[in-house]
Amino acid sequence: MTLKNIDIMEFKRNIIITGGAGFIGSHVVRLFVNKYPDYRIINLDKLTYAGNLANLVDIEGKPNYIFVKADICDFEKIRELMTVYHVDGIIHLAAESHVDRSIRDPFTFARTNVLGTLSLLQAAKLYWESQSEGYEGKRFYHISTDEVYGALELTHPKGLKNDISAHEVYGDDFFHETTKYNPHSPYSASKASSDHFVRAFHDTYGMPTIITNCSNNYGPYQFPEKLIPLFINNIRHRKPLPVYGKGENVRDWLYVEDHARAIDLIFHKGRIADTYNIGGFNEWKNIDIIKVVIDTVDRLLGRELGEDINLITYVTDRKGHDLRYAIDSTKLKTELGWQPSLQFEEGIERTVRWYLDNQDWMDNVTSGNYQRYYDEMYNKR
Ligand code: NAD
Ligand code: TYD
Repeated sequence: MTLKNIDIMEFKRNIIITGGAGFIGSHVVRLFVNKYPDYRIINLDKLTYAGNLANLVDIEGKPNYIFVKADICDFEKIRELMTVYHVDGIIHLAAESHVDRSIRDPFTFARTNVLGTLSLLQAAKLYWESQSEGYEGKRFYHISTDEVYGALELTHPKGLKNDISAHEVYGDDFFHETTKYNPHSPYSASKASSDHFVRAFHDTYGMPTIITNCSNNYGPYQFPEKLIPLFINNIRHRKPLPVYGKGENVRDWLYVEDHARAIDLIFHKGRIADTYNIGGFNEWKNIDIIKVVIDTVDRLLGRELGEDINLITYVTDRKGHDLRYAIDSTKLKTELGWQPSLQFEEGIERTVRWYLDNQDWMDNVTSGNYQRYYDEMYNKR
């Protein structure tokens, strides 16, 4: 299909989802393609090391789904796509997303996360302002992270497991939508900067923007450089589990499909120019979650329980390692009725099972084969 001869009128909405070949993006694309057959979903992804179309094989033939390999920094390309597909919504997930990489290579993070977001904003602005109805019915939804808020103290060392009423007890000991930005890593600094540009486009031009800041996600299709999939794979192959520092840092974990559901809800019902925090009220110290992952992998593989505990290897701490993240998502619950649907125990069981059942996916990713395949495929075009 060429860009020129597309019938754009048959769809109720035309939405670009950026970063749709990545971890969270693939869940969002799948949800939208299946739930809204009358929407055209344009998955725009550069296919960096983190992008993998194998994450979406189940929907690739659907008539309301299109994949476009493009860089969000390619302003002219984005402009062209906006016009050709009459795009009325953007859900922006494309980003460099791994803190350790940002420590080694901050420029790539500034380029994609800051300049790429600006390029999307400007392309959307020019196209939407050229339409007779202007910004009416349009949405620019930017997906961000709780890491922009900085780090919290360790005040409840046992953590809070799926306790949605925790905010009533602990009050201000969470990130709220009003918490001052205080990013520490190059990753979080680049995301904070992109959030500011999104707000600036609302405040300056009246663009209908929404931002959400979410806690750590886990689930199927996550690139195995992040804690949970990396450790599942290492346990399976009995490789060392590199725990940074003392393993006492705390993260608030949310099952990825619950994040995708929140994105769907907020895209349709969220208030323009507003911010919503999304989290699981599910805090775990790294070392505790690692023990749960070891037990689950060992049980599902029929190994003796705790057999692999000795794989834990304490290594030098991450530079500037944020101590604790914890989101208060009360606003989202009160205003739009969202809350996590899965208890952590069920989510982690599903996740471990998925990685163990999809060893081909894991092997393909860890060997780098998936990238060679796409490089060849797209260079031939
Ligand atoms: P990911 O690294 O798995 O996927 C990122 C995707 O973006 C990949 O498909 C990649 O190919 C694509 N991409 C990267 N640079 C691009 C560019 N220049 N142009 C076009 N596409 C490009 O990331 P993820 O974990 O799925 O995170 C998605 C979004 O959610 C990010 O914006 C991230 O900041 C945010 N977020 C992630 C988490 C988490 O726990 N993973 C939590 C909160 C927020
Ligand atoms: P990660 O999955 O990289 O997410 P983020 O840094 O965005 O929170 O890391 C989650 C936590 O696990 C974080 O505190 C760093 C720690 N960690 C390790 O201890 N070892 C590892 O090999 C990795 C990847 C992370």
